[in-house]
Amino acid sequence: MSGRVRVRPGVPDAALRVLSEAGLAFDVGPLEVAGADALLCLLSDRIDAAFLAGAPQLRIVANMAVGTDNIDLAAAASLGIPVSNTPDVLTDATADLSFALLLAAARRLAWADRYVRGGGFVGWNPELGIGLDVTGRTLGIVGAGRIGRAVAERARGFRMQVLLHSRALGPPLAELLARSDFVSLHVPLTAETRHLIGAAEFARMKKTAVLVNTARGPIVDETALVHALREGQIAAAGLDVFEHEPSLAPGLRDLPQVVLAPHIGSATVTTRARMAKVAAQNIVAALRGEPIPNRIA
Ligand code: DGY
Repeated sequence: MSGRVRVRPGVPDAALRVLSEAGLAFDVGPLEVAGADALLCLLSDRIDAAFLAGAPQLRIVANMAVGTDNIDLAAAASLGIPVSNTPDVLTDATADLSFALLLAAARRLAWADRYVRGGGFVGWNPELGIGLDVTGRTLGIVGAGRIGRAVAERARGFRMQVLLHSRALGPPLAELLARSDFVSLHVPLTAETRHLIGAAEFARMKKTAVLVNTARGPIVDETALVHALREGQIAAAGLDVFEHEPSLAPGLRDLPQVVLAPHIGSATVTTRARMAKVAAQNIVAALRGEPIPNRIA
């Protein structure tokens, strides 16, 4: 099989092995695809209509991510360029991080770490570091896909009552927000879900509620989130993604009740290797003219 693949820097070696074993030439480099038949890209690469129009020879754009909001799928479809993603392999890692953020925000772990490092811990104090209960509380999960359901599985170990909301399932979003002690977001970013959680939604939530977002930043109106936290409309948040990543909304970094992570939901050695391998397998299939296992457009 012949073909040349442009691979973006940072893609784990597992992808390169798959491409080599299939006899494909590849180079690791910038987001330029002149002379390339396939692109293995990252979620931080913006693959818009102008980029695709300049690359009509591509036989696949393989995103090393489950989310594909960085790619103009309609433009790819109109040019006949297939797009693939990497579902399943990152479900557990992302669900684990969602739960880690939930626990960290509830029990003030980031604050506690800063406190000890800063020399503030001078002896046990019954008033120090008081957080929120997790066990037995109500968890509202917005999005009933693979990751949302994996978070629900973890919640059962904490004897939580789980409310699962999707377009087709569960209580209406407004009801879930009003009843939940924790709200965890697991929907893809689309025109419909952009700012799904904004000022009106924060107003419905409990003052003791915690918001967790490991999905995509723009699902939350981040300016409204800062306002809601400052005004005590909700208690805390655990965030792995941001509306204008990697920038944060003004004021967000100053709020001690927020736990921040740099989009590391899938960041484990094995998960990233699996994502790389799946992305490369999609490319091999496309260049062989076979059905692409994870084609989404
Ligand atoms: C994804 O795959 O979409 C995650 O955000 C990063 O792994």
